[in-house]
Amino acid sequence: MRLNVKVKRFNPETDTAPHWQDYVVEAEEMDTALYILLKIKWHQDGTLTFRKSCAHGICGSDAMQINGENKLACSILVKEIASKDGDTIAFEPLPGSPVVKDLVIDQTRFFDKYRAVLPWLVNNEAAPEKERLQSPEDQEIIEDATKCILCGACTHACPSTWADPDYLGPAALLKAFRYTFDTRDEGASDRLRVVDSSEGLWKCYTIFNCVQACPKEIDITRWLSALKRRAVLEKAG
Ligand code: SF4
Ligand code: FES
Repeated sequence: MRLNVKVKRFNPETDTAPHWQDYVVEAEEMDTALYILLKIKWHQDGTLTFRKSCAHGICGSDAMQINGENKLACSILVKEIASKDGDTIAFEPLPGSPVVKDLVIDQTRFFDKYRAVLPWLVNNEAAPEKERLQSPEDQEIIEDATKCILCGACTHACPSTWADPDYLGPAALLKAFRYTFDTRDEGASDRLRVVDSSEGLWKCYTIFNCVQACPKEIDITRWLSALKRRAVLEKAG
């Protein structure tokens, strides 16, 4: 089918504001949205700029807005967003962060927040000979959260983040949950001090945009609620 493709473009060296650019692309219904962008880049306009790497929903680099929703371009098929000749697919950068160029956003703040929650296992005991074991039951607690690929679709769908750019946001808070609830971890107190703050957990109003945006279908608000309860218990001593 022939699709009308609109891409919101911005080149900081020449543009004062973003503008829409139109393309026409021949596509199959099983093509991915990422493949549509690649076809434009390869055959029509080599200046079109976007991030991508694995093309299989693993690296998290190609999160963007597609027809107004935060999606991974490599994980959505044309048939999910267009059904007939002449349909339109619109691509925009994720909202809420400065645009570097076209569909590429500046992720500095996103990863600063990620690092702020100590997203690693804290354990000061001597390292065992092989590995720190965990029971299947204990692993089950954090299993869902470990699926996160740090694509940023959730944080950039969150109205609290749009309203307050300093709010840690769902991706960083989910990572805090993942390590705080890891039974091998000893860093909960330090981590909870970071997230139980004016820019932390309590700015999550369970709006559920993050859950809707997550390409890995992680139940983010459920785990953030568990982290809130843990923070309250920590304070109560
Ligand atoms: S929780 Fe989901 S949407 Fe958020 S960064 Fe991780 S994979 Fe992406
Ligand atoms: S390109 Fe890696 S997740 Fe889409």
